[in-house]
Amino acid sequence: MESPFKPHVLQGKVALLTGGGSGIGFEISTQFGKHGVSIAIMGRRKPVLDAAVSALMSLGIPAVGFEGDVRKGEDARRVVEATVKHFGKLDILVNAAAGNFLVAAEDLSPNGFKTVMDIDSVGTFTMCREALQYLKKGGPGRSLSSGGFILNISATLHYTASWYQIHVSAAKAAVDALTRNLALEWGTDYDIRVNGIAPGPIGDTAGLSKLLPKEINNKTSDYLPLYKVGEKWDIAMAAVYLASDAGKYINGTTLIVDGGLWLSSPRILPKDAVKQFSRAVEKRSRAAPAGVPTSKL
Ligand code: COA
Repeated sequence: MESPFKPHVLQGKVALLTGGGSGIGFEISTQFGKHGVSIAIMGRRKPVLDAAVSALMSLGIPAVGFEGDVRKGEDARRVVEATVKHFGKLDILVNAAAGNFLVAAEDLSPNGFKTVMDIDSVGTFTMCREALQYLKKGGPGRSLSSGGFILNISATLHYTASWYQIHVSAAKAAVDALTRNLALEWGTDYDIRVNGIAPGPIGDTAGLSKLLPKEINNKTSDYLPLYKVGEKWDIAMAAVYLASDAGKYINGTTLIVDGGLWLSSPRILPKDAVKQFSRAVEKRSRAAPAGVPTSKL
């Protein structure tokens, strides 16, 4: 699908994306690239990185891949530094690396819980911290008045509660707290905007195949207000919007891009039934003065 944004809205910017070699992260890499951004990708799997970089370069997008694990502080530092060495500066950090699996709370080991916290929450904080010196106003290649941009990929799981997702819900709740606190502290001190995106179920991603395996996927549309799963493109367009000047007054927000799914709940009555039911209840309550049980009338 074509982008509704002008191709130069992010012209000349440099972005580093963790988890930017596959899934939603790769689509953000691609769309950022198509809108003028030079792309550095950090990931654990070299073949995935290589394939992503050559796909981007075949589109004419300057791209480079760096192997690394966001759980390792030394990897975070090395990759941020290598990005700046390669492209001369850093304007945008996208934290898209994440870990997930379905598991009942009582079957999850403390190490399983910690693994996801380490990737999603601690990893995001570590990357932000390493990138700060380059993203802050007056940093290398930056003007004295303009800071960079951080985008944290979150989720909606923790807005209510989600079956078999206690670890990810906790991790993404922490990510949202990072988004808000860094927006406050680093927005004020360094002119860095920090925002998030909370995707709903997005087709053709590891997230969807892990969390909604094909076996149970068929009924998904019954619960979606817009009656379809989202596309990676939907998330990437939100990212372009937030990273561009169109989002220059948006700071500390996590934009939900889920077609309204997190608001949904099972319909308790068909629409026609509710009309009749509602009128009948009105009639009854008008006939009965307040406090007088209908059985006494
Ligand atoms: N159910 C229950 N526990 C699980 C699990 C599952 N499906 N998968 C892993 N764990 C537990 C392990 O048992 C281990 O805990 P233990 O030492 O107490 O046994 C802990 O989690 C770490 O697992 P391990 O396989 O060693 O971690 P890893 O670093 O190799 O992999 C994961 C990390 C588990 C998050 C892996 O799924 C991953 O790499 N994910 C990245 C991609 C991804 O999930 N994308 C989707 C984004 S929405």
